[in-house]
Amino acid sequence: MADGHGAGGQAQFREMMEGTKEDWEIISEHSRIFNKGLAKRVLDHLRLLDGDFGGFPVDRLEHSLQTATRAHRDGRDEEYVVCALLHDIGDTLGSMNHPDVAAAILKPFVSEENLWMVANHGVFQGYYFFEHLGLDRNMRDQFKDNPHFQRCAEFCHKYDQKAFDPEYQSEPLEFFEPMVERVFSKPKNSIYLRKTEEASA
Ligand SMILES: [Fe+2]
Ligand SMILES: [Fe+2]
Repeated sequence: MADGHGAGGQAQFREMMEGTKEDWEIISEHSRIFNKGLAKRVLDHLRLLDGDFGGFPVDRLEHSLQTATRAHRDGRDEEYVVCALLHDIGDTLGSMNHPDVAAAILKPFVSEENLWMVANHGVFQGYYFFEHLGLDRNMRDQFKDNPHFQRCAEFCHKYDQKAFDPEYQSEPLEFFEPMVERVFSKPKNSIYLRKTEEASA
């Protein structure tokens, strides 16, 4: 332990207030490597939706692939397609607020309008079924003056609510993996980015 940081490169503090610049260089190096695996971890989590039908005509992974495939074939850009692919990734942990989970994962990497679309798609998707559950299908109208209303309404209309067709030939997850890698390699917005990194991102 000549360098005072122990084999394996670990910080030496027992309370964060004791931490040194050297400690944080070690942690930063670990997190730089760990962060490179983010896209793979996200994709692994998305695979948890495989076989999860929940009574729907297609399972949640196929719904995700179909939403993304429809957006891609309609000429949407890569960031939009990745948002489409991941919009329901929160179904596993956010049973009562699944759009919030996807939005939290995507927030550092996507534009404000795409983030808003993902974060609010649950209310907008309700336009197509809330009436069957005794809910207000026009719940989305609370956002009628929002500049992103049309974007979110269009996402649900053209891609999300249409993506339950067992006959549709979706692209496989592997098709989207490079897109996810690219989008997750360029954070634009995070409290952990220094100003110079933000400017170059
Ligand atoms: Fe959803
Ligand atoms: Fe969906």
